[in-house]
Amino acid sequence: MLLVLFVLYIVQKVVYNLFFHPLSSYPGPKLWAISRLPWHWASINGRLCWTLQEFHLKYGPTIRIAPDELSYTTSSAWKKIYGQKVPEFSKCLDGRGIAPASRNGIRGIVTEFQDRHATLRRAILPAFSDRALREQEHFLQTYTAKLVKQLHHETGTVDIARWFSLTTFDIISELAFGEPGSCLDNADQPWLNVIGNRAKGIVWYQVGAYYGLDRVIQSVAPSYYLKSRKSHMQMCAAKVMKRLKKTDKMSDFMSYIINNEAAPLSNLDLTLMASAFIVAGSGTTASALAGTTFFLLRNPECYQRLVGEIRSSFLAEEDITMAATSELPYLRACVEEGLRMFPPSPSTLPRFVPEKGAFIDGKWIPGGIAVGVHQLSSGLMESNFHRAMEYLPERWLELPNDSPFAKDDRSATQPFSYGPRNCVGKSLGYQEIKLILSKVLWDFDLVLLDDSDAWWTQQKTFLVWEKKPLMVNICPRK
Ligand code: HEM
Repeated sequence: MLLVLFVLYIVQKVVYNLFFHPLSSYPGPKLWAISRLPWHWASINGRLCWTLQEFHLKYGPTIRIAPDELSYTTSSAWKKIYGQKVPEFSKCLDGRGIAPASRNGIRGIVTEFQDRHATLRRAILPAFSDRALREQEHFLQTYTAKLVKQLHHETGTVDIARWFSLTTFDIISELAFGEPGSCLDNADQPWLNVIGNRAKGIVWYQVGAYYGLDRVIQSVAPSYYLKSRKSHMQMCAAKVMKRLKKTDKMSDFMSYIINNEAAPLSNLDLTLMASAFIVAGSGTTASALAGTTFFLLRNPECYQRLVGEIRSSFLAEEDITMAATSELPYLRACVEEGLRMFPPSPSTLPRFVPEKGAFIDGKWIPGGIAVGVHQLSSGLMESNFHRAMEYLPERWLELPNDSPFAKDDRSATQPFSYGPRNCVGKSLGYQEIKLILSKVLWDFDLVLLDDSDAWWTQQKTFLVWEKKPLMVNICPRK
């Protein structure tokens, strides 16, 4: 009897989701409209991003990817979903986006509710001002110089993605904790692996949160994913306490945050904040560098043009500064194009439509439906970008009206997200990428070992890219 009731329940659910649900008229794969299980399956296997990109290609700019979720790819959807402040489209933290949302009921800046998020954001803004960035440049210079020095010892075949990760981690460690991460000195430093495992573990926390199975998941998921989260927080807490004892005049993030009397933070808030900086600020920048390098090396004419711009703009390596690299138009174009095709945060960060409902892209969506822009797909849609699957940095240069790229909708790609919860480290991220890339290309000639699509399209995502090795031959410039 119970079995019959269960089967009837499933059948009515399937019929309702397919034919009577408010989203039943939206295109998309039928199986995904019936149940969220296929979404979780693709997510756990690391193929969610590429699968959604295929669906958008097949079904169009707005698709249904779960019984109660729509995925968009337009610039207008970015503005509406992520830009609207009152009422806010609140973050979906029920297992579709960042998970878990809290630790023992306490939230950090990325998952905090709207009001307290604004307070936390106010507290850290001085650490990301233009003035702060200028005062922090010496950290970027020091670690970029160290990277270049180490690469001189390593010439031959190297995993350049790994070297970028070591560098960005060292920079963010100095900024978040006021002390070196020492990754460039010792590539086996355990914290980077802890962060990598922590990122992969997110998909398990998503399943746990969505089905209320936290405890079951704790026993089913690979234990090193779960342990990594604990180790990461313990290391953050210890380093923050050590930093708070320092009294010297410093220019790391903490020095601005602690001195911001308008928005004081508790020690726990500071630990969660430092954790957010480390997680959000190292792997993302390293991915952007790896992605841009991959596409540049696959497109020799772009690579040669960029190398030409960098090597002809400076007389000596010391002249390569943050301010000077900001003046290089082709470098900027190459980075934008890299971020479009390989956005470091390639997934959807979904939001709930506010209670009273809202119009998105001209259609009424009831309150409570999850909506979001799929970052990877929006950058790769032909309706947004002419020859979208090709790396063509010139689309970001100043263009004549009759250029085939003049109709590109540049705001359809938002690698740093959009609105009041966008990336607070956006300027820092851009400066890091431009400085590191310029210094590496100033000193070295690079050749890709495997120039097939594989590094890009076969790379898995666990909310962020899995970080596949990017093997290149590197030698001092001729
Ligand atoms: C290429 C480099 C980077 C990319 C593509 C990137 C991307 C993003 C994205 C998409 C978000 C929104 C997340 C969400 O909605 O949940 C975000 C938030 C954030 N990012 Fe970045 N990020 C980068 C570099 C950095 C750096 C260098 C820092 C420095 C610490 C940083 C710190 C943060 C923080 C603290 C947040 C949370 C902001 C808030 O909730 O108000 N990011 N980032």
